[in-house]
Amino acid sequence: MNDISRHSYLSDFGTLAPYVKRFRLRLLLVFLLVIAVVMVDLIQPYLVKVAIDKYLVVRVPNERAILLMAGGYLGVVLLSFGLTYYQEILLQYAGQSIVRAIRIDLFRHIQTLALRYFDQNSAGRIITNVVSDTEALNNFFTQFLSSTLRGLFSLVLIMGFMVQLDLKVALYCFILIPLVVSIAVFFQRRMRSINTEVRARLGNAIAFLAENLQGMPIIQIFRQEAKQQKRFDERNRLLVRASIRENWYFLLFFNVTELLGDLGIAALIWFGGQAVLGGALSFGVLYAFIGYIRRFFQPINTISQQMNTFQSTLVATERIAATLREEPDIRERAGAVPPVIRGEVRFDRVSLAYRPGHPVLKEIRLEIRPGERVGFVGATGAGKSSLMNLVTRFYDASAGRVVIDGKDVRDWPLEALRNTIGIVQQDVTLFSGSVLDNIRFFQEGIAEERVREACRLVGAEPFILRLAQGYHTQLSERAATLSAGERQLLSFARVLVFDPRILILDEATASLDSRTEEVLQRAIHRVSAGRTLLVIAHRLATVQEMDRIIVLDQGRIIESGTHDDLLVRGGHYWQLHQSGILLDEAV
Ligand SMILES: Nc1ncnc2c1ncn2[C@@H]1O[C@H](COP(=O)(O)OP(=O)(O)OP(=O)(O)O)[C@@H](O)[C@H]1O
Ligand SMILES: [Mg+2]
Repeated sequence: MNDISRHSYLSDFGTLAPYVKRFRLRLLLVFLLVIAVVMVDLIQPYLVKVAIDKYLVVRVPNERAILLMAGGYLGVVLLSFGLTYYQEILLQYAGQSIVRAIRIDLFRHIQTLALRYFDQNSAGRIITNVVSDTEALNNFFTQFLSSTLRGLFSLVLIMGFMVQLDLKVALYCFILIPLVVSIAVFFQRRMRSINTEVRARLGNAIAFLAENLQGMPIIQIFRQEAKQQKRFDERNRLLVRASIRENWYFLLFFNVTELLGDLGIAALIWFGGQAVLGGALSFGVLYAFIGYIRRFFQPINTISQQMNTFQSTLVATERIAATLREEPDIRERAGAVPPVIRGEVRFDRVSLAYRPGHPVLKEIRLEIRPGERVGFVGATGAGKSSLMNLVTRFYDASAGRVVIDGKDVRDWPLEALRNTIGIVQQDVTLFSGSVLDNIRFFQEGIAEERVREACRLVGAEPFILRLAQGYHTQLSERAATLSAGERQLLSFARVLVFDPRILILDEATASLDSRTEEVLQRAIHRVSAGRTLLVIAHRLATVQEMDRIIVLDQGRIIESGTHDDLLVRGGHYWQLHQSGILLDEAV
């Protein structure tokens, strides 16, 4: 391990410090209990030693004393059992509390991150981070910390007991220590890299699974099941191979130390036995040494077993710290909200490049008056959605500025900006919950009557009332049971309920049946009243209604005007119109 990685691991652990601090009392109590457990455990061989030397190998039998010793031994065992149990429960509680706190913070932080982060990180990877990396941390607290603590403390105590029993025999036993430690270091190095690999492969498999679940219809229609199965198998095979290798190293290490322990006992019996026969050592002491040397290797073994956990913790901590370090791209500058929001939007020589050197919007100049209804048309990939991403600040412009009501969007408080803007997207996302909650976004403060009114206005009520429980029908996360048109209507109702000054509408490209089309058209009309409307339009019916139409091509505005103006001009718009790219439901 070089200096750089050591430094980064340290600072990664630093991110955990506040959580440990928060639960320090619980952890301290656990620590004290661990010490108590170890002491109670280690007193056991000593008790037997006293029983042997004092009452068993003597001529005069003292049955009462032996009975007392046995009772004492039993008492100590029971005490150890009780303390261990209590300590474990308490530890689990502390570990889970810490993990819960970290998960909450992770989720909170992830929610602040800009869309760019989600472009770059798959859902599967993020899920692994929040669910399984935090679980690895839990293991760190519940397994690693207590075992290691207990182990180290036992080692020290055992060494003390041994020295106190017989210095010479103790020193012979200690010869084993450097040997065991170097073996542990040797294996630990190898196991770290394997563990990183295992976790990466696990993340890979989860990401693959998440993607597949989402794309199931596509996979089935293209009949890619067998191929996807093979790709999944491939990922699983790599995962299994890495896991087996990890376990192989671990078992080897475990057995080697176990073997060393047994060799130690054999040596003790051989040399110690001779000493006992020669009268240099009491039988009780030899017995106690055998008991202690067993307990001596136990902690070393548990600690090294925990090395696995420790490796996972390092990797998991690193990834959690990396997520928490991730800066939200979209930063808030302190700024005041304009006193009256009118809904004027101005693009001031705006350019956008998602990747440096590949601009998708080039020096866009456009002024939209408050209350104006503007349609955007253009070939796919022309940059229509990207332009809207700048208004909502899902992304920030690479050059130029977007100005709303005379104020650069970057100077708006984010919350105020997003309260001002409503958006209806191509595919409407619904969440698991009732229809009602989906429209009011789980804000109990919004009255049901207001939601119903909005639904009546956009024409969503008829289909909602046809659902099994009307407004209280539970929708699944992807709302596969609703049609695309119905989902759009729900999101129109959402807009009405939240009443934004500026409305962005990314029209669905799919052609709808003429009745739904009509309902939607009326909904757009109703919803846009009194708002600035920016519509990415694919339907002729929508476009015709707009005050102005902007034609985008390869990131530039190439034409603008009303429907009639543009048709007369016979340019790009006319071509779009002729080629039927603007969907004409009348046809
Ligand atoms: N998040 C992103 N990261 C990188 N490139 C992107 C991203 N979103 C869009 N692009 C690219 O930017 C260009 C413009 O995309 P945009 O989504 O704005 O097109 P559009 O006009 O909305 O097309 P459509 O009509 O198909 O929705 C495309 O070349 C696209 O590949
Ligand atoms: Mg688009």
